[in-house]
Amino acid sequence: MSSTIAAWMPWTDRAGRLSWLKLAFFVGLAAPAVWMFCEWRFDWLSPRPRTDLIRESGDWALRILVASLAVTPLRFVTKFNKLILVRRALGLAALFYTLGHVALWCVDENYEWATIFWEMMLRMFLTVGLVSTLMLVILGATSNDWGIKKLGAKNWNRVHAWTYAATGLGVLHYFMESKLDVTEAVVLGGLFMLAMAFRVARKWLQPRFFPLAGAAVVSALLTAGVEAFYYGASTRVSVSRVLWANLDFTYSIRPAWWVLAVGIAVALLSIFRARATPNAARKR
Ligand code: HEM
Repeated sequence: MSSTIAAWMPWTDRAGRLSWLKLAFFVGLAAPAVWMFCEWRFDWLSPRPRTDLIRESGDWALRILVASLAVTPLRFVTKFNKLILVRRALGLAALFYTLGHVALWCVDENYEWATIFWEMMLRMFLTVGLVSTLMLVILGATSNDWGIKKLGAKNWNRVHAWTYAATGLGVLHYFMESKLDVTEAVVLGGLFMLAMAFRVARKWLQPRFFPLAGAAVVSALLTAGVEAFYYGASTRVSVSRVLWANLDFTYSIRPAWWVLAVGIAVALLSIFRARATPNAARKR
């Protein structure tokens, strides 16, 4: 294999050498697609297989998109700079699952292009999904050296900040589509807020336990607030009752706790990293 082609492989670094980190991410990111293919091939889906696959691909698109936002905060906390190698892979995988999601929906609509067009224009949750998809396509198309050269570093950074908007719209699309149970939408929305809170913390604060734990607490409280507001607005359940449900662990652990747990786990990493880094290196 020529070295130029080798450098383009999803498991090699820019010099064309095998990167175990990239390989592990490549396998992990391909696994849901392989699983969905098996579900379809061996008839493991419900009597509405297309709906199942539309949902699964949408779920994975959004999960991976949220995970891609975690790369920068994790680098900041752990100083494991090699993580940058997988950020693009995460973004492209999110685009891949989104395009699969949209393509499956078009199949489900029997390729009736006029209906597809008007549905996307008139049904608000689909319009929101469409805007997010278009943003992801532009981000994917400009995520390479060609994109940086064409746009210039400053514009490229501006365009790539759309990742937040595209993720926010993806979360909104999920909320608008959900009927009764919004648990996963709330968890993903909460993790999105957590990633944003860590970004703010990164601008103003040191990567230390207490500021990071503070950002985790704020994100968890916001998550509980969003969940209570959603149920309050879409059902007749009172906001305070949904908020109190966070303290009842009989049936499930509410999304706010998951967000808090992830946030505190990341904050704890900062302690281990501080211990593992000798003083001189830390000062430097
Ligand atoms: C043109 C763009 C899009 C279209 C036409 C579209 C279409 C749909 C449809 C029809 C559903 C409902 C499936 C059902 O329950 O019957 C859905 C759900 C969903 N979509 Fe999209 N979508 C688009 C973009 C996106 C994007 C950009 C994301 C995220 C990055 C996304 C993530 C999701 C998620 C998470 C669900 C909920 C899945 C579940 O209920 O478990 N979609 N989408």
